[in-house]
Amino acid sequence: MNDMHKASEALREATKVVFFTGAGISAESGIPTFRDKLTGLWEKYDPQRLETADAFRENPALVWGWYLWRRHQVSQAKPNTAHYAVSHLASTGLRIAVVTQNIDDLHERAGSKDVVHLHGSLAQPKCFACHRSAELTPEQAAVSDEVVLVEPPRCKRCNGRLRPGVVWFKEDLPVGAWKAAMSVVKDCDVLISVGTSGVVMPAADIPEIALAAGAIVIHVNLMDVALGGTNELMLIGNAAEVLPTLFGSIGIPEA
Ligand code: APR
Repeated sequence: MNDMHKASEALREATKVVFFTGAGISAESGIPTFRDKLTGLWEKYDPQRLETADAFRENPALVWGWYLWRRHQVSQAKPNTAHYAVSHLASTGLRIAVVTQNIDDLHERAGSKDVVHLHGSLAQPKCFACHRSAELTPEQAAVSDEVVLVEPPRCKRCNGRLRPGVVWFKEDLPVGAWKAAMSVVKDCDVLISVGTSGVVMPAADIPEIALAAGAIVIHVNLMDVALGGTNELMLIGNAAEVLPTLFGSIGIPEA
């Protein structure tokens, strides 16, 4: 029996399913993954050098400009078939939880509820000094195609600079998010890991934590990312095609 058949069997028997998603699930929506080369205005920048507190201290206008551009990119994007397949599965009575590393809101816009964002969200900037959450006015959220440098707005409470409400390298994950993730990952029958390279800790530990708790882990990726465990299945392909095929195999029509 091949891994798709085994994955169907596992899903048929499951009552609690967790989706653990990475940038690959949003790729079909036109959002570049973290390992994709950047294009246009940002072609000469390396994302991994823009996504640190030090980079923000050094050049707040560049880092803020980068995140404003990404926020704009996400606002122009639409959820893809994979996001809809995830939210549609919840309507079949299965207990579904979504734990994502992504900072876009495509799961929510596809109808998924209570999404756990391990690495924060583009939608929720906060003050770099006092950490108070902030809402941007339409003018503050506006981006232009010409400039990369945008001075961040100031916090209404302490006048500190606003920063993106995301987790940067070397920063801790939001405590509430990690706890919420652990409570569903340790209690699920099946964890479906979709579109993640599994390189950034501690999120990358999640499939192993699920395996250790007795779950079956189904990886969905363009390449083989399986860890070699016994209860792991590897479905190689585009998430936007693999997920509808997998759910169709257990009688769940496409969203
Ligand atoms: N379908 C399935 N998988 C895909 C698709 C697709 N259409 N397109 C790309 N992928 C896979 C790639 O093969 C890769 O394994 O998605 C993965 C994307 O990997 P990354 O770009 O490393 O993204 P991610 O795993 O989410 O990164 C984790 O790293 O940079 C930090 O905080 C950032 O949350 C991010 C974290």
